[in-house]
Amino acid sequence: MSIAPLARRRLAVTGSEELGAYRVLRVADPDGPPPQPGQFTMLAAAQRWGGGEDERPYLPRALSVAHHADGESHYLLEDVGPGTRRLCELARGDEVLALGPLGRGFATPAPRQRAILVGGGVGIAPLAILQDALALRGMKAVVLLGFRDGDRARGAALLRDARVATDDGSVGHRGLLTDLLAAELAQSGEAVVYSCGPAAMLEAVRALCAARGVPAQLALEAPMACGFGACFGCVVPTRDGYARVCVDGPVFDAAALESALVPGVGH
Ligand code: FES
Repeated sequence: MSIAPLARRRLAVTGSEELGAYRVLRVADPDGPPPQPGQFTMLAAAQRWGGGEDERPYLPRALSVAHHADGESHYLLEDVGPGTRRLCELARGDEVLALGPLGRGFATPAPRQRAILVGGGVGIAPLAILQDALALRGMKAVVLLGFRDGDRARGAALLRDARVATDDGSVGHRGLLTDLLAAELAQSGEAVVYSCGPAAMLEAVRALCAARGVPAQLALEAPMACGFGACFGCVVPTRDGYARVCVDGPVFDAAALESALVPGVGH
């Protein structure tokens, strides 16, 4: 696990590309610690990060690293509010303030285990870098992704060989992502599930894996202010008491959780 220096670094934006309803933001980070799959960065725009000159800046946004190669980190963005909108506006030549990579990422599967990656919406990002890391070890993963509609489903291009489910049926399977997962878990062999996405989806994945006795690692989302364990804004209940998503996670063993529904996160 790489430990990030606890200082924000000023990094150059090298590009930003549209990917359906999302954007992929590319940031040069040649000297930073290489991120582990599942780790995240607290990102803020270096300029115009707040409502106006006299107003308080926004909190940085916690974003999973989606890819890291050739000294660049990629992040998947969805414009869901003023902070993410500002990050979506960034273009080559702009700068960001970055603190990271932070948190505990995914553990590598055992050689006998078949990795199944299950992601929803913008939560597919950490599964993309996990797929990259597994490929470097010569391991193939099954990829199942769910989206609300066809525009968002274009985000599936972030990973290779994905099977897709959409709520509106415009792309792939019409219906729940867990329909695809249930069919996959019915195959023979020992499986391990890696998942990230909206809390309701994550909880459905957790419950299905628990019912089938399949181990799962879940990347949780929680409101974060500091990202390094100081503010306790991101605590979630676990079977062993409260844990901070930013330092004890964001990836948790599903067996440690009663539920993947995080208090305070809309679902
Ligand atoms: Fe501050 Fe986790 S975000 S303790």
